[in-house]
Amino acid sequence: MTNSDAITHDVIIVGAGLAGSWAAMIAAEQGVRDVAVLSKLHPLRSHSGAAQGGIAAALNNVRPVAGTGPRGPLEQIPEGEEPVDSPELHMFDTIKGSDWLGDQDAIEILVNDAIDVIYQYEHMGCVFSRTPDGRIAQRRFGGHSAPRANFAADWTGHVLLHTIHEQALKHGVKFYSEWYVMDVIIEDNIVRGVVAINILTGEVHLLRAKAVMFATGGYGRAFKITSNAFANTGDGVAIAYDAGAPLMDMEFVQFHPTGLYRHGILMSEACRGEGGYLLNKDGERFMEKYAPDKMELAPRDLVSRSEQREIDEGRGVMEDGQAIWLDLRHLGREKIMERLPQVRELAIDFAGVDPIEEPVPIQPTAHYSMGGIPTDNNGQVIADAQGTPIVGFYAAGEVACVSVHGANRLGTNSLLEASVFGRRAGYAIAEFIKNGAKLHPVTGDPAERNRRMIQEMLDNPGKELVEDIAQELKATMTANCGIFRDDEKLKRALKDVRELQERFKHARVMDKSRRFNTDLLAALETKHLLTFSEVIVTGALNRTESRGAHARTDYPKRDDENWLKHTLARKGEDGRPELSYKDVTIFWDRFPPQERKY
Ligand code: FUM
Repeated sequence: MTNSDAITHDVIIVGAGLAGSWAAMIAAEQGVRDVAVLSKLHPLRSHSGAAQGGIAAALNNVRPVAGTGPRGPLEQIPEGEEPVDSPELHMFDTIKGSDWLGDQDAIEILVNDAIDVIYQYEHMGCVFSRTPDGRIAQRRFGGHSAPRANFAADWTGHVLLHTIHEQALKHGVKFYSEWYVMDVIIEDNIVRGVVAINILTGEVHLLRAKAVMFATGGYGRAFKITSNAFANTGDGVAIAYDAGAPLMDMEFVQFHPTGLYRHGILMSEACRGEGGYLLNKDGERFMEKYAPDKMELAPRDLVSRSEQREIDEGRGVMEDGQAIWLDLRHLGREKIMERLPQVRELAIDFAGVDPIEEPVPIQPTAHYSMGGIPTDNNGQVIADAQGTPIVGFYAAGEVACVSVHGANRLGTNSLLEASVFGRRAGYAIAEFIKNGAKLHPVTGDPAERNRRMIQEMLDNPGKELVEDIAQELKATMTANCGIFRDDEKLKRALKDVRELQERFKHARVMDKSRRFNTDLLAALETKHLLTFSEVIVTGALNRTESRGAHARTDYPKRDDENWLKHTLARKGEDGRPELSYKDVTIFWDRFPPQERKY
């Protein structure tokens, strides 16, 4: 399929979660007629829908009851009384949470746009939980110094996603469900389209566009225990990297403190926001030792490390000692049923434990990718540390790195980032198209190249099983590039990843058919896992300090003198990641780096 018989659109957005759907909806609303969204899933199965506990914004609807201390009950703020929160405070919390690696200009946009974006959701009909007087309900979340998680019970991502998907449909966005993008075409630093496989038919198509946006989500599936859906295999980052785009700060992978033991399924941070405890085998609220002020509501990197220490030092629970108790019993049936109904169902269905009656066994779970494709504040992908744009190429949401989360994201800032920067990318794309963007020609036949690659995979008589390779990758990433890292472990991880990349060349796809070949898709996804895992490990090995989620036992201190900078990784001539570095944007007069204590 060549230029003339390719499918064409003005705009192609890959990924139908919050960032992609916001961008599509806004671009269409702004008058771009031909906007298409490709999703490897049904759009409403996008992983944004799995986010549970809330979306941050300083709405000032609730405050702690006077005299009850920082963990006391919340009440709605009476009309006309002093606010407890502000975008400025949200900004400081996010910068501190990021361990000063977040770009402060981007964070300022995030917190200032937050309030407007929440009210836009409300006006579009989003069913938020409410205070007694009808305002949007808010709860506490880790690392935030005011209750600013706006929520819909523990279904927040789900209701936001449904709201924005409806709006995208209303504005005439075309959705290609179950189309898997394999390649992005970039020539002379200008994006020209993508190659995608229609999963239903197995046909491979070239799709040309004036603008392409990646909103393909994160890469938690590179780890054994993860809260991420099976689909979160980092396709977007791997495809962009293979096409010559850089990746930024990939070594920063967030472990959420409360994944259901052995499954990794999210037990929302809202459990602790509502007052839940973390207990070790001696029944001790051990967070007292690690974060005496914030306790269970310290940021995720700190809580996950504390749990892991308890486990490593023999104070874990369950037969193998690899879990911690999440105790919600004291919250009572009514509160759990009203505020945490999904968490309760998941604990019953997957662990056979009813949180109303018993503590739930949990463990840290790979949850969020702080790194990704670098962009400016309008979602425009940048090619280097100087900010040179890859013309027509945009990214937002977890696949992107703006960077607002730096070395560690605060809970509830991810739904916010996807919404704020998805929306901004939508406006930027609309302007780009309306300013006369062109459909640029494509050299050669990239669809045919991808067809041949698939055929070679199908014809490969090799002895290796894709699933074995994927499992071994997850095992080494978890053991050697997980919560605690050091030089020896990281070198082992790098060696393992490279050996697995070699073995993958002999991997056999067992299903040879065309239609709905999930075996083939798993092979393509595993190839992506192998590609970006090498980048994560290389970045982690080089960064000889501890910052946010990157905790090196051999370099336990943050080192601002040498490492207050973003990592950029680009695929070198030899196929290996080449690293360079980029300055962090810091407002030195407002938020200079400080020691990070909770
Ligand atoms: O714990 C949670 O509900 C997850 C929220 C988030 O990652 O922002």
